[in-house]
Amino acid sequence: MLPPAISWVEGHLRLLDQRSLPTSVEFIDCERAEDVAVAIKTLAVRGAPAIGIAAAYGVALEARTGRSQAVAACDRLALTRPTAVNLFWALRRVRERMETVPDSGLFDAVLGEAAAIHEEDREGNISLGRAGADLLPDDCRVLTHCNAGALATGGHGTALGIVRSARDAGKRVKVYACETRPLLQGARLTVWELVQDGIDTTLVCDSMSASLMSSGRLDAVIVGADRIAANGDTANKIGTCTHAVLASHFGIPFYVAAPLSTFDRSLTSGDAIPIEERSADEVRRLPSGGMLPDYYSIWNPAFDVTGASLITAIITEKGVILPPFGEGIASLLSRQEV
Ligand code: MRU
Repeated sequence: MLPPAISWVEGHLRLLDQRSLPTSVEFIDCERAEDVAVAIKTLAVRGAPAIGIAAAYGVALEARTGRSQAVAACDRLALTRPTAVNLFWALRRVRERMETVPDSGLFDAVLGEAAAIHEEDREGNISLGRAGADLLPDDCRVLTHCNAGALATGGHGTALGIVRSARDAGKRVKVYACETRPLLQGARLTVWELVQDGIDTTLVCDSMSASLMSSGRLDAVIVGADRIAANGDTANKIGTCTHAVLASHFGIPFYVAAPLSTFDRSLTSGDAIPIEERSADEVRRLPSGGMLPDYYSIWNPAFDVTGASLITAIITEKGVILPPFGEGIASLLSRQEV
């Protein structure tokens, strides 16, 4: 059984430490928002929806102490990772809830909001998964990149939620998981997560996707997202755009799976999405444990942007959006607001 990535246990936030997977299953108990901020920054908890959920619980930890501490926690948590818009969406939801309650009810209100964000994400992924599963043939081979599974969300997963739902609907699904350099979320997390669930999964290096596609061994590419602009341009883990370009070349459908909390209507295109750059040491580290020399210049953007024109459909909990995406996105988001 897959342990929950995020849980509220006896007054504190318990996170599955994703840095130690798959070799060991360890948990971190967070008592303060600062513990949660460090866990997000260092990728103990990662994946756009999971980051938002963890941050919301992080504010609850401080709401126990008082309103100004909870407000400071929102500001601190917002500084952890810039690309996943779910973080800012969740913090905004918690802030708005805080404004509706007196100090005496603050903790219960913030904890309740965090739990609601968590549960809504898990439930939404089940709807998203069913909508995505309908797009897949009965016998299908899927390529995915990074980890957009239960580990990255409130549960079930987005891209991997579609795989689970397809399997539950009786389809035969085989997954090719790209290892996802430099931090190997695909190798460490996706393969582990899917194998726990009995799903046929094969690990491939990121550079092997063209070979897989040209050999006719793929029916679809399905990835998650960290932020989707108003026109459908999508930021996701670095390397995603490469698979999208290849999928377009080889005529393979390229699906993005994401909840509405991943859309950023304020950005007209992907050019404006802030891309996190992480430490060069993540690339410098060699599989042997050694390090490349310091004089090697290294660029390490954590995400790239896939242009909307390369995306076949965006699958959400409220339905599937087809190109041209601008209108479909605007209509789904405005229905959500009423
Ligand atoms: O750096 P990470 O591991 O947080 O990156 C995660 C991804 O890029 C996921 O694909 C994305 O957040 C979607 S998770 C449902």
